[in-house]
Amino acid sequence: MKTRIGIVLGSGLHSFSDEIVSPGKIYEDSDSFHSIQVLKGKISNNEVVIFSGRRHYYEGYDNDDIFQNINFAKDLGINLLILTNAAGGINRRFRVSDIMLITSHYNFIKNRFTENVMTDYYDKTLNARIKNTALRNKMILRTGSYCCLSGPMYETKSEIRYLAKYGIDAVGMSTVPEMIHAGNSGIKIIALSCITNLLSENSTGITDHKEVVEAGKNSYQTFSSLIKNIVSDFSDKF
Ligand code: HPA
Repeated sequence: MKTRIGIVLGSGLHSFSDEIVSPGKIYEDSDSFHSIQVLKGKISNNEVVIFSGRRHYYEGYDNDDIFQNINFAKDLGINLLILTNAAGGINRRFRVSDIMLITSHYNFIKNRFTENVMTDYYDKTLNARIKNTALRNKMILRTGSYCCLSGPMYETKSEIRYLAKYGIDAVGMSTVPEMIHAGNSGIKIIALSCITNLLSENSTGITDHKEVVEAGKNSYQTFSSLIKNIVSDFSDKF
């Protein structure tokens, strides 16, 4: 099957839109809390659709708004969607700017869903291919479990201790609803977290959105080459 790739860009990663050759705007909403643009064009000579920005439940949106990018993706015939996000690293081996391939998740906002199929859509074969792509390009790619919390507050020391105890590797406020809706819509998923800050119950610092966006920008080079390599590797079929 010919791959039609979509990429959802998380906080701090939006400049990846600038990598598109011959961009065409499909949709724009600059009034929402995080401005949203849907663009089509070419990356590494392959057609892609970029979703720059997403909506979150903590902004007061309901499922129709949260799933808007995924519904666009479905209408545009996307069959492979790369979801990206900024996340706080819980795993002690992680460093700021690491990229983590999500292999499973904890969903702490289950009550927001009306969808009745609730499965883990992370595909082992696809993920093995991504790990290979990273290896071939000599890139370090972490793997782990992502926890979706409602936000917008960052985590307390007690919450961090709890998350670490239960084997969570990274925490954020997005991606899981999109993953479930995309999976239920028949779209294959790859999900990547950019580790923008480290969470430790002993740390004295306080996480804020500015720090997260800045760190996202710092990991841009790694992130951007990984995505380009994935787009090249998956261009024909998957
Ligand atoms: N917590 C929750 N969401 C996040 C974080 C965090 O530390 N960093 C980036 N997104």
